[in-house]
Amino acid sequence: MPAETRIRPLAGVPEAEACARMMAESEPWRTLGRDADASLRILTDPTREVYVAGDDAGPAGFVILCLVGPFVGYIQTVCVAPDRRGRGLGTRLVAFAEDRIGQVSPNAFLCVSSFNPDARRLYERLGYEFVGELRDYLIPGASELLFRKSGGPWSTFQPRESR
Ligand SMILES: CC(C)(COP(=O)(O)OP(=O)(O)OC[C@H]1O[C@@H](n2cnc3c(N)ncnc32)[C@H](O)[C@@H]1OP(=O)(O)O)[C@@H](O)C(=O)NCCC(=O)NCCS
Repeated sequence: MPAETRIRPLAGVPEAEACARMMAESEPWRTLGRDADASLRILTDPTREVYVAGDDAGPAGFVILCLVGPFVGYIQTVCVAPDRRGRGLGTRLVAFAEDRIGQVSPNAFLCVSSFNPDARRLYERLGYEFVGELRDYLIPGASELLFRKSGGPWSTFQPRESR
């Protein structure tokens, strides 16, 4: 990974469109039937926070967070460009997401599709625990597997200060 790859907030609609294309062309979203338009709607949803790992070559990956609702601290999407995978960028994006979530919640949640064992392995290695299976949740015949990484109960939660 180039040293100059930085994680920072999504910068405008053209970058959101590039991220939407990256998502729509990749598994698991192809199998889930999420096209570029649907991906763009999520990327530009004002209730979401999107952070991009970018450098001179443009967006190399991104993470979409939901910090509102009953399960505060949901990592909705982690995506790294196919030619940038396997070099630690996904791990960096998840660490960044956890840092941001730690400002508002002791829990980070995410879902992995049942047909995505590679991503599941990564999250388990990063300390995520399997919570439960949502059968036939997005498409028939596949499940979404809910995971949580806990920093402790809400009763003792101390919000992390922003950097
Ligand atoms: C999952 C993903 C974000 C990880 O990013 P990355 O930069 O490749 O990850 P890192 O280099 O930090 O870690 C590598 C680990 O990622 C996982 N991984 C690698 N390639 C992957 C792929 N094509 N799809 C899913 N997971 C992958 C593996 O667990 C790998 O570890 P391994 O050495 O045990 O095989 C990235 O591979 C990706 O965008 N995959 C496609 C989209 C996806 O599956 N997103 C997760 C949805 S829940």
